[in-house]
Amino acid sequence: MLETRPATIADASLITRHRRAMFHAMGGATSETLDLMSRSFEPWLIPRLAGGRYLGWIKCDGAQPIASIGLLFLDWPPHTLHPVETERGYILNLFVEPDYRRRGLARSLIELCLEEGRRRDIAVLSLHASAEGRPLYESLGFQVSNEMQLRNQPPR
Ligand SMILES: CC(C)(COP(=O)(O)OP(=O)(O)OC[C@H]1O[C@@H](n2cnc3c(N)ncnc32)[C@H](O)[C@@H]1OP(=O)(O)O)[C@@H](O)C(=O)NCCC(=O)NCCS
Repeated sequence: MLETRPATIADASLITRHRRAMFHAMGGATSETLDLMSRSFEPWLIPRLAGGRYLGWIKCDGAQPIASIGLLFLDWPPHTLHPVETERGYILNLFVEPDYRRRGLARSLIELCLEEGRRRDIAVLSLHASAEGRPLYESLGFQVSNEMQLRNQPPR
């Protein structure tokens, strides 16, 4: 039976594995870059999980974790979209094990993030979607924004 639970610090390695698997599935990064990112990510994550700046949810099939998602709270200046609030949410690290896809697991994980955002009066939630994830986010009302990026550093 599938169950969903909030992530704890004990899930830091699992979340790191899912992040790596997500980027691996998206393609474009070498194993060396994925390994380097994973080694830096886990120690970055632990204090944020502990302090509540990063919330995560894990779906398990019995004892086996099979999907997860993260929601990071970003310090953000008041904006016309939220003239009083000083935070935005960033959804990240969405990964579903291949055998469990197309059953609505990702959708229900994203909905947990949306619910948490509403609970905290967060007006803007953003993310960078993979090609696979994009239709799902669009069906939940996400729109492409006008954000621009300058990438000065080539990946190591
Ligand atoms: C993208 C991903 C998270 C989707 O997980 P999932 O549990 O299969 O998604 P859901 O079952 O909730 O999908 C709901 C809807 O999303 C869309 N969708 C999901 N996978 C899709 C795909 N491969 N191609 C096109 N649309 C897709 C469909 O609209 C689907 O509804 P439908 O099955 O009724 O047509 C999963 O494929 C995955 O982990 N991929 C690798 C990592 C990744 O890309 N992560 C997302 C980063 S933004």
